[in-house]
Amino acid sequence: MKILAIETSCDETAVTLLEMSGRLERPDIEVLGDSLLSQIELHEKYGGVYPNLAKREHEKNLPILLEKTLKEAGESPESPQIDAIAVTEGPGLEPALWVGINFALELGRKWGKPVIPVNHMEGHIFSTLYKMSEKDSLKLPALALLVSGGHTELVVVKDFRDYEIIGRTRDDAVGEAFDKVARMLGLPYPGGPKISGLAESSRAKKKKIEIEFPRPMIHSKELDFSFSGLKTAVLYKLKSELRTDGEFKEDVSRAFEDAAVGVLVEKTRRALLESGKGIKTLIAAGGVSANLHLSRELEKLASEFPSLALHLPIKYLTTDNAVMIGIAAFIRVTRNPEILRDQVKIEARGNLSIS
Ligand code: KG4
Ligand code: ZN
Repeated sequence: MKILAIETSCDETAVTLLEMSGRLERPDIEVLGDSLLSQIELHEKYGGVYPNLAKREHEKNLPILLEKTLKEAGESPESPQIDAIAVTEGPGLEPALWVGINFALELGRKWGKPVIPVNHMEGHIFSTLYKMSEKDSLKLPALALLVSGGHTELVVVKDFRDYEIIGRTRDDAVGEAFDKVARMLGLPYPGGPKISGLAESSRAKKKKIEIEFPRPMIHSKELDFSFSGLKTAVLYKLKSELRTDGEFKEDVSRAFEDAAVGVLVEKTRRALLESGKGIKTLIAAGGVSANLHLSRELEKLASEFPSLALHLPIKYLTTDNAVMIGIAAFIRVTRNPEILRDQVKIEARGNLSIS
């Protein structure tokens, strides 16, 4: 099945053409064409994503990326040989989502193809189906730790299209905390990779650091997260010290990352132990799953459970992209083929939940 997928939920504009077949547990996924434009540099001066600017950029870039993707795939821009168009319906910034949705619906009318709405978070979960190792296949039920700039969630994937959120952040998302701490340290947006780089430099020096930050809710029974107290603790630390040198920033980054990752891993452990759902696969996905310290700690965690597989996306698919939207659409169509016949109503749903 050939699906053209479109993603515009935040500050990445992406268009992909995928050919997919096979079992959902281990689909064959071929990327025939793919283009992605990140608006990071434009939003940098606002210290975060500015919705109306994102909307304008998506409008400007979508036709260009579509042309590039179809050309790369050797498809005609007038009548490409595809089965469906997939588009992110939410969650995300509504003005940005609408641009992708209207563009997809217009193409659907022009080409006479069905348009499939996709939940962005479902996309993140199944980004891990791309380039799975040779003998692997996804064994369900799975537990997904979704960590991005907008979300921090623990989701039980009982089956394809059957999800239960068992933990979520009560305030900031973990990626948002990385970005805010980076801003306090005078680092540009998005701060996650920069904090991570500094923290790794500090670790490479193999010294003990004096700084230690609180790990909010780490001992509470709930599987919810909270990151705003940690962020405030970093702020107080920076205000209470005269130091602003590079080594100090590296150590603060490391202490912050240790605390944030410590909470993520501990809550994931608790979920694995307590969910009582016989979890067979641990998935981590979303922008923050690119974090080296987190992936190392999750590997350690997974090795504590004898038959638990750990699935992470390839680096390109950790942050927002259209490949994951195409994969989630393939799952939706496979489970409910009628969706290709009966066009469902599509609208931007900024707060769309996965369960
Ligand atoms: O999934 P994503 O691209 O967008 C959302 O849907 O939010 O995630 C972006 C987030 C940003 O907050 C960014 O700082 C964070 O992912 N991020 C990282 C790393 N790479 C990206 N955070 C920590 N360490 C990283 N290596
Ligand atoms: Zn995302």
